[in-house]
Amino acid sequence: MKKSVKILSVILALVIVLGCFAACGGSEEPKDEKKVLTMATNAEFPPYEFYEGETVVGIDAEVAALIAEKLGMELKIEDVAFDSIIPGVQAGKYDMGMAGMTVTEDRLKDVNFSDSYATGVQVVIVKEGGSIASLDDIAGKKIGVQTSTTGDIYASDEFGEENVIKYENGALAVEALKNGKVDCVIIDNEPAKSYVAANEGLVILETEYAIEDYAICFAKENTELQEQVNTALKELIADGSVQRVVDKYISAE
Ligand code: ARG
Repeated sequence: MKKSVKILSVILALVIVLGCFAACGGSEEPKDEKKVLTMATNAEFPPYEFYEGETVVGIDAEVAALIAEKLGMELKIEDVAFDSIIPGVQAGKYDMGMAGMTVTEDRLKDVNFSDSYATGVQVVIVKEGGSIASLDDIAGKKIGVQTSTTGDIYASDEFGEENVIKYENGALAVEALKNGKVDCVIIDNEPAKSYVAANEGLVILETEYAIEDYAICFAKENTELQEQVNTALKELIADGSVQRVVDKYISAE
């Protein structure tokens, strides 16, 4: 009888010790597992986001990675249609949207924006020696844009929806310009420069069409993340990290 009590208590002690190990191990694991920061983008927008092989690279991808590092989070990039970034962020599908996205009054009704980290300029790409030589020539001509971008919104407002042809991305709009399906493309200056560099016979009009601020968007209720990202962004701007990323992708003229 006494012997079996002894054995039982030894077993009990073992169970307790083992149980503790398991519990301790179990509670330590999540500490190493980083929280994921999901960023929605539309990776058809060089030099801000584009593919290098299977990986999304570019200014936004690298700045976001630096932000995630500061927050101790693991960055996950989701490549989606540009016009599903804001709805997805609103629905909580993505933690933030970063896509060379311009801060506009209308978008501010749906999402909050971080401080601005870059400036964008809307420009007009035309065929060299084509029918459009200045902004005055655009009226009545066919304008190619990426759906739901500010280029789309300006062009539709100013030149009439009937003259605007919407494409899924800038590259397709530029393709349409080359094929004569549209007479010009209104798009952000940096992607415009890469498209013009990659396609012979295209030029950017001298006149800048509109100047805008790029920022990261968040769901209205997610002010906590917005503030954390802003703090990280401020530090990364102040210590020159953001500029270093920009310089890597945009050569100074
Ligand atoms: N800046 C423009 C806008 O916010 C165009 C952005 C397009 N971005 C992209 N990743 N495709 O509407």
